[in-house]
Amino acid sequence: MSATGPDPAAADPATATHKLLIGACGAADVMSLPNYLLALRTRMPALRVRVIMTATAVKFLPARTVRLIGEAVFCEGEDNFDPGHAKLAQWADHFIVLPATANVLAQAAQGFSGSLLTAALLAYPGRAIFFPCMNAEMWHKPAVQRNVAQLTADGHHIAGPVMAQCWEISTAEYKTGPCLPSPSQVAGIVEDVVRHRGTRS
Ligand SMILES: Cc1cc2nc3c(=O)[nH]c(=O)nc-3n(C[C@H](O)[C@H](O)[C@H](O)COP(=O)(O)O)c2cc1C
Repeated sequence: MSATGPDPAAADPATATHKLLIGACGAADVMSLPNYLLALRTRMPALRVRVIMTATAVKFLPARTVRLIGEAVFCEGEDNFDPGHAKLAQWADHFIVLPATANVLAQAAQGFSGSLLTAALLAYPGRAIFFPCMNAEMWHKPAVQRNVAQLTADGHHIAGPVMAQCWEISTAEYKTGPCLPSPSQVAGIVEDVVRHRGTRS
């Protein structure tokens, strides 16, 4: 498949007009973000997708690579106040954070808004879906689980992680541990939300 994907004209009207905002954080797995964007585009060809990348995310994956696939990509510290966090939040029908670092989970759980992504999350009136991504030691820490519980109590949804074989950077080996759901699983989750929750999650 080319990076431009299937013909939007052939899109299912149930998903055609929806606008998805993706917050991409600085977990190493953000390097796989293009595969997730392609899976979303394949499943919902006319879904409009914008991406906010944290300052750490762009160290793992150049924004220009993401711009080949997403409609638009917004990065921390760009000398551009338009659209800004509030307009991006207003634009979005649905907001997912993928991958979600322990850092952004903590900031969102506490209501911090020190970055474009966390400010957009705070300005977003709907419920976001967080896809946590971190190794087992981090994921099982009480502090992380407290933040996850707080986000859930605030009405957000935590999707995954799933137990699977994934590459662990710290030990440089494949291990069974908490991983992001696959691109097709994430596309399925998003499609389900788009079809059943209406235009504002
Ligand atoms: C090689 C490498 C891999 C990392 N992977 C993860 C990860 O999978 N999950 C995570 O929560 N943090 C991970 N971190 C730590 C984050 O990059 C760090 O907490 C950073 O401040 C996150 O910034 P952000 O949340 O604003 O994107 C990793 C750091 C390095 C150097």
